[in-house]
Amino acid sequence: MNNIRINRAAFIGGAIFHIHSFDTQVAENLYIPVDSSLKEKYEALIPQLEALINDEPDLIANMANMAAALKEAFGFFWVGFYRVEGEQLVLGPFQGPVACTRISYGKGVCGTAWKEKRTLLVPDVDQFPGHIACSSLSRSEIVLPLFSEGEVSALLDIDSDQLDTFSDVDAFYLEKIASLLNF
Ligand code: SME
Repeated sequence: MNNIRINRAAFIGGAIFHIHSFDTQVAENLYIPVDSSLKEKYEALIPQLEALINDEPDLIANMANMAAALKEAFGFFWVGFYRVEGEQLVLGPFQGPVACTRISYGKGVCGTAWKEKRTLLVPDVDQFPGHIACSSLSRSEIVLPLFSEGEVSALLDIDSDQLDTFSDVDAFYLEKIASLLNF
């Protein structure tokens, strides 16, 4: 990460006043160890995600960077968020191919994770009754509910184009990562 100091000056009443200076954190690269375990990769990623989103109060901006960071770090096929809007989930920030815009309560993997208020690991999407195929290339999936005051307010959904990609290790660390978001 680079710290870029931006200085501003203003021409006020015939004189130049130095009025403001502030730091802007620019994240250029993620550092993910290459020859390392899944656990080590997640542990390298988490402090970088914290640094990216800690000082930013905007939920959508933080979801966007989180989706981009997860896609870049792990090369997942699709990473994104769905937000609860009434009786539906509405597509939020994501990385990957275009996806279904709205999903009803209890429908598909996402609607089921919302209804059951729990993380769902799907090793083979073709074996999940009612799976919604936004892309025919998706083969396995993990969906995590994100809570605000005990209610599901969004979901983190990650798809793989390989079977059986996700494990309890992913569920454990992705829950930690999702908890960095403030609702
Ligand atoms: N497969 C999901 C739909 C969302 S996409 O995977 C992006 C589901 O069954 O709910």
